[in-house]
Amino acid sequence: MSEPRAKRVSESETIMTEMVMPNDTNPMGNLMGGNLMRWMDIVASICAGKHAESHVVTASVDHVSFRRPIRLGEVVTLRARATRAFNTSVEIYVEVYTADIKGHNHRQCNHAYFTFVALDEKTLKPRPVPPVLPLTKEEHELYESAVRRRELRLVLSGRMKPEQATEIRNLFAEMD
Ligand SMILES: CC(C)(COP(=O)(O)OP(=O)(O)OC[C@H]1O[C@@H](n2cnc3c(N)ncnc32)[C@H](O)[C@@H]1OP(=O)(O)O)[C@@H](O)C(=O)NCCC(=O)NCCS
Repeated sequence: MSEPRAKRVSESETIMTEMVMPNDTNPMGNLMGGNLMRWMDIVASICAGKHAESHVVTASVDHVSFRRPIRLGEVVTLRARATRAFNTSVEIYVEVYTADIKGHNHRQCNHAYFTFVALDEKTLKPRPVPPVLPLTKEEHELYESAVRRRELRLVLSGRMKPEQATEIRNLFAEMD
């Protein structure tokens, strides 16, 4: 079978906009963290599905931290981009920005890396994902660093032995 065509990041970039409604908030009038994570998962899965041209499932989420509260009535914009595909998985970078209804006070709130696995529709087994073709400087940086993030998450989830995490070891060796 021929190798799938490498796809540009822009081919699957996905933007989602939401307004924080009363039902999304905690008793202090701020967006519930779980609701933000749900939106992040949705935008990331749409991006991963477009990149993989397949059904995808969330395999892991790294480093979601909430830098500042998001208030009732604020407009939340979520941007998802594919950073790198491995074999059957693809890493998606999600950035979250907020602004008021007038489009003022634009701020970045948080970011996270999601890993999705593409599944074959019939067998529901993991299936190969096309490579990501990085073009810009930022896309290249995200592409290169994705190997280390993958090693870290696989070690932390017990799927890789620490001694197999060669990229992380090389990084620490460079710092010595
Ligand atoms: C994700 C899932 C399909 C992996 O199945 P599996 O039998 O472990 O498959 P494999 O061992 O062949 O691994 C498939 C890929 O998943 C990746 N993967 C598995 N677990 C992972 C984890 N915790 N973090 C990151 N990647 C992971 C593997 O690295 C591999 O990627 P690669 O092919 O690019 O190298 C399976 O664990 C699953 O269905 N999980 C539930 C997904 C789900 O329902 N998500 C929504 C939660 S409510």
